[in-house]
Amino acid sequence: MKMLEGKVAIVTGASGGIGRAIVKVLSEEGCAIAGFNFTPSMDSSDYTEYIVDVTDRNAVENAVKSVLERFGRIDFLVNNAGITKDNLVYRMSYEDWDSVINTNLTGAFNMIKATIRELVKNEGVIINISSVVGLEGNVGQVNYSASKAGLIGLTKSLAKEFGKKNLRVNAIAPGFIETPMTEKLSEEVKKVALEKISMRRFGKPEEVAKLVKFLIVDGTYINGQVIVIDGGMEL
Ligand SMILES: NC(=O)c1ccc[n+]([C@@H]2O[C@H](COP(=O)([O-])OP(=O)(O)OC[C@H]3O[C@@H](n4cnc5c(N)ncnc54)[C@H](O)[C@@H]3O)[C@@H](O)[C@H]2O)c1
Repeated sequence: MKMLEGKVAIVTGASGGIGRAIVKVLSEEGCAIAGFNFTPSMDSSDYTEYIVDVTDRNAVENAVKSVLERFGRIDFLVNNAGITKDNLVYRMSYEDWDSVINTNLTGAFNMIKATIRELVKNEGVIINISSVVGLEGNVGQVNYSASKAGLIGLTKSLAKEFGKKNLRVNAIAPGFIETPMTEKLSEEVKKVALEKISMRRFGKPEEVAKLVKFLIVDGTYINGQVIVIDGGMEL
């Protein structure tokens, strides 16, 4: 029997590298998926796509209402949408600070505000996709690392707030995963990153997606944690 038959998940950034893999793995277990994408995706064959900018509170609320009208329930929220706008602080614009914090951190908060009552009702699961950079920091990423560290604080506080209601909240901190986000990095940056990974390879989106599934299906006593998935990386 499929493990998630009758359940409904919202995955933000469903068209991206990791988001797409999360959709695939959860839908293979029978989960219905609403994918919240910034722009229309070329391939949304195994999920229902909603065009939503997670920074837009009204758009988020309206889309969540549409999901409830269509599917009748929401069990899982995967806050996966995220962006980078890297630069050294001297050169980082205020706009690049704001847009990364707004998308990666406030976007997740907007999603949580719009779904929390439904998730509590269904004793659901929230998974926030953070980053090892949120734990360790990284040169050129003060905006990104602050947003990802913020997600970790948010995760732990939410877990404490809702544990007694059986809503579980965890964060995943991936290292270097092969997706469009990392594809744009220079060969030199990739080479340096690879040398720091004990397994000497980058991760695959499916490997992160399988961890999401584990946390939903099997991790029934895991709450308020940050699970690192980085092939043994030293930043
Ligand atoms: N790739 C990595 O090495 C890596 C490592 C650690 C953490 N992460 C995190 O994993 C998540 C997914 O990253 P990815 O590598 O798949 O990147 P990606 O660029 O392939 O996908 C990002 C997705 O987020 C969506 N998105 C961006 N802004 C949005 C907005 N305002 N509203 C709605 N959707 C929006 C994009 O459309 C895209 O679908 C991100 O949160 C990223 O920070 C990635």
